[in-house]
Amino acid sequence: MRALETTPVPEVEAEAEAAPVILGRAIVITSGKGGVGKTTTTANVGTALAALGKRVALVDADVGLRNLDIVLGLENRVKFHVLDVIEGKAELDDALVRDKRSENLYLLAAAQSREKEDVEADAMRDLIEQLRKRFDFVLIDCPAGIETGFTNAVAGAGHAIVVCTPEVSAVRDADRVVGLLPNTWQPELIVNRVRPALVRKGKMLSVDDVNAILRLPLLGVIPDEPSVIVSTNRGEPIALDQTSATGGAYRAIAAKLAGIAVETPPVPVEKPAGMFAKLGAFFGGR
Ligand SMILES: Nc1ncnc2c1ncn2[C@@H]1O[C@H](COP(=O)(O)OP(=O)(O)OP(=O)(O)O)[C@@H](O)[C@H]1O
Ligand SMILES: [Mg+2]
Repeated sequence: MRALETTPVPEVEAEAEAAPVILGRAIVITSGKGGVGKTTTTANVGTALAALGKRVALVDADVGLRNLDIVLGLENRVKFHVLDVIEGKAELDDALVRDKRSENLYLLAAAQSREKEDVEADAMRDLIEQLRKRFDFVLIDCPAGIETGFTNAVAGAGHAIVVCTPEVSAVRDADRVVGLLPNTWQPELIVNRVRPALVRKGKMLSVDDVNAILRLPLLGVIPDEPSVIVSTNRGEPIALDQTSATGGAYRAIAAKLAGIAVETPPVPVEKPAGMFAKLGAFFGGR
């Protein structure tokens, strides 16, 4: 008797070796002092990185006070937030809001009606890890202060950008924050809201004055510019405005982060007499 003819079984192909997952960079944008420009920086640097072709996720870690969605003009499209994902009430894909203007840019909004203490550092770390598998950059917008919200925002990150304005109180708080970051990190500094005319007159700290205390690699300097506030209110980050010098300063920061060589933007370096002495006194003359 002939053996039953059977459909030949296709040869099982040797399983292709899984490509190693390249994790993106998770960077926390922090400051200590409130209102110095963390959220503005996160939105603009993220927007500029996306324009360079990088895949970017922006995470609003300011639980209870979210506003990154507004700066990006995405407030009407937020359905779920960080805590919904952490608590399994929403899939990450459903919570990520794609930017209107860039297919590379996504937002994960903060919970508005929750407390910072509702987030666990471990859960945050896991969430950021998931995002790093999918994005080249994960920028985490840190709340002001150095309490639970700060700890959670830092938990999943591997790098920090410290935003500081040329004010003694902001420098002191930034110094404190740097001391709280893991000591293997080398945080980078953005000095925001610089007014060169005031620096020249000796009425504002210069970038050098600020960094004489903080001693961090300088990532960029952003002028104090009313159009930043206008663009924020419109939900259109100024980094998109090719005619704006301030937009250019954000684009230069993004290029540096992406490892693209750029000309360093002009930095007001004058050291007016008197200002540094005042600053030094706050730090025990360091
Ligand atoms: N370079 C700038 N020039 C002018 N205005 C600016 C600049 N950067 C930020 N601002 C304005 O300063 C205000 C505070 O900025 P932002 O919300 O980014 O600060 P923040 O550090 O995130 O504050 P918070 O600590 O409350 O989260 C906003 O009104 C913003 O438009
Ligand atoms: Mg903020």
